Amino acid sequence: MTSADIDQIVTHPVPERLLKSPDFPTPHVDSMEKYKAMWKESVEKPKEFFGKLATDLLSWSKPFQTVTHGSFEKGDVAWFLEGELNASYNCVDRHALKTPDKIAIIHEGDEPDKVRRITYGELLRDVCRMANVLKSLGVRKGDNVAIYMPMVPEAIVGILACARIGAIHSVVFAGFSAESLRDRVMDSSARVILTSDEGRRGGKNIATKRIVDDALRDRETPVEHVIVLRRTGTPVPWENDRDLWWHEEVAKARTFCSPEPMNSEDPLFLLYTSGSTGAPKGILHTTGGYLLGAAATVKYIFDYHENDIFACMADIGWVTGHSYIVYGPLTLGATTVLFESTPTYPNPSRFWNLIEKHKITQFYTAPTAIRALRRLGDEWVEGIDLSSLRVIGSVGEPINPEAWDWYNEKVGKGKCAVVDTYWQTETGSIIVSPLPGATPTKPGSATFPFFGIDPVILDPTTGKVMDVVDETGVLAIRQPWPSMARSVYNNHSRFMETYLSPYPGYYFTGDGASRDKDGYIWIRGRVDDVINVSGHRLSTAEIESALVHHETVAEAAVIGGFDSLTGQCIHAFVTLKPHIEATEDFLTKELTLQVRKIIGPFAAPKRIYIVNDHPKTRSGKIMRRVLRKIVDNEHKQLGDISTLADPSVVAVIIEKVHGPV
Ligand code: WTA
Repeated sequence: MTSADIDQIVTHPVPERLLKSPDFPTPHVDSMEKYKAMWKESVEKPKEFFGKLATDLLSWSKPFQTVTHGSFEKGDVAWFLEGELNASYNCVDRHALKTPDKIAIIHEGDEPDKVRRITYGELLRDVCRMANVLKSLGVRKGDNVAIYMPMVPEAIVGILACARIGAIHSVVFAGFSAESLRDRVMDSSARVILTSDEGRRGGKNIATKRIVDDALRDRETPVEHVIVLRRTGTPVPWENDRDLWWHEEVAKARTFCSPEPMNSEDPLFLLYTSGSTGAPKGILHTTGGYLLGAAATVKYIFDYHENDIFACMADIGWVTGHSYIVYGPLTLGATTVLFESTPTYPNPSRFWNLIEKHKITQFYTAPTAIRALRRLGDEWVEGIDLSSLRVIGSVGEPINPEAWDWYNEKVGKGKCAVVDTYWQTETGSIIVSPLPGATPTKPGSATFPFFGIDPVILDPTTGKVMDVVDETGVLAIRQPWPSMARSVYNNHSRFMETYLSPYPGYYFTGDGASRDKDGYIWIRGRVDDVINVSGHRLSTAEIESALVHHETVAEAAVIGGFDSLTGQCIHAFVTLKPHIEATEDFLTKELTLQVRKIIGPFAAPKRIYIVNDHPKTRSGKIMRRVLRKIVDNEHKQLGDISTLADPSVVAVIIEKVHGPV
């Protein structure tokens, strides 16, 4: 989008209904003036602002004395230092003690008629039991537990049971392959894995336990036990001295387990994410600051009020699931919806039926789902009562204005706040977003910073702050905020190199961004080698390495091309070792399988091109920029390619991608 395009964008005022209806609560922040005043205080006096917020929103077993300490330069950021608290106590006990019969989790199963409702009282018992099971297996504070589970309430129970005893959970998205799971289990030295016999999604069974078995096969791993939930009942292979049934173990366990007092800076969880280079990093989040960020953003960005029904459609294996299915809503004592199925099962009305059935007030999904549903036609959303909705959110990638408009009109009926929320695994919670009762929105812009976030746009080469309208630079943050990641597990220097050293004094997001004349922030996508496919973060280096592992491949170059449905899609250009005698058709299938096996099905390239050579500089570096322009149909504007080692390669590749000219 150019600045001329931005000028065409219509600004949407806050819907009247949110501010004036007697049927709705008054928004926590109900004017732009109020937002501005609060934001100013939050960045100018973070100690006062966050000290108060942390006391209001969290329960501390020992109060903190120092609100914030440390700096980006030194990489020693810490919040609420002397304070002690337990995340599971904050998410469960304090609500269970007051309102034990309130519904904590609504689980909508894969089949729409399979709904489970779990109260806070029940959740407390379930979490305690699982915590006691883990303890009985020798898991202690600071130990690691991996969770490889489908979208069932027990996944939340597992997460909170770890938090209760101070074990560090590392949830691995159940779409990852056995090899990816093994890498994560090895890196985090997980002693226990929680899993299920199978998962269910979109009417199909997924062989979860088998993938865990494969991950642990033929290799020494730190895993002592695998606890298996019975989800579908399909018989699964069993290792007697390693595997335990979930239901048998919890039946033996006591229903109370006292929460371990944790220092605010004790680790809460790891979440592995892709970066530009090398193996995925275990992003480390700590307890107090993370929990505050998750809770504060649910309160202010989703304008949460008591009795709301909060529904985030993300998978629990991604950070969005952590902050907006589990920790954020439960810290506030909300009813959170856990959805096991897909947006199109059994038909494309599924999301909308879900909203109507459970009277959902906040609904949070990704642009790729919105685009896919829009494409299937308005008839699937029409005639369904969506009047319970107040706030509808989007996350994961830039949302294009067409998708934004459709979401606003067809789902929000023009009467809901649309929040395009920008953030990352590393930021812990949303950092740029409108506030429902305050911010006039512009489709495609994540608008303004959340409290405590002081964003700047830097010139990528000089590192100086750019104060120019509509010019894209790199997005960075000027001062620490509570929920930011503290480290990369066992690799603090990698944390420094990736986020804090590139632009000294700033946290570097890896995203490009600009500001328009009204100060609205527009996120432009990654400036590094991270590709975003349907909101899934993938590194080109990781996919290239999976391809090169194949015995036929000499070299691989992977780039993200434009895709109108998934945002970006993966194109791989592969050269072969000499004397490979196989058809292209056979090889592309083989190589696709290879990526699925090493990373997971969601990382499979959309196109694989077998080529004789890559466009390279004279020093041998592959010019991915050239490949990107070719797949995006911009090869008429390649610029000067005479510096390539062999410029004739380009014409051959253009023909390969677009056919003979
Ligand atoms: C992208 C997901 C534009 C961005 C919470 C970021 C977005 C990466 C938005 C993080 C948005 C996320 N607009 N881009 N509203 N939200 N992104 O770690 O490139 O899976 O760096 O966290 O997603 O992806 P991650």
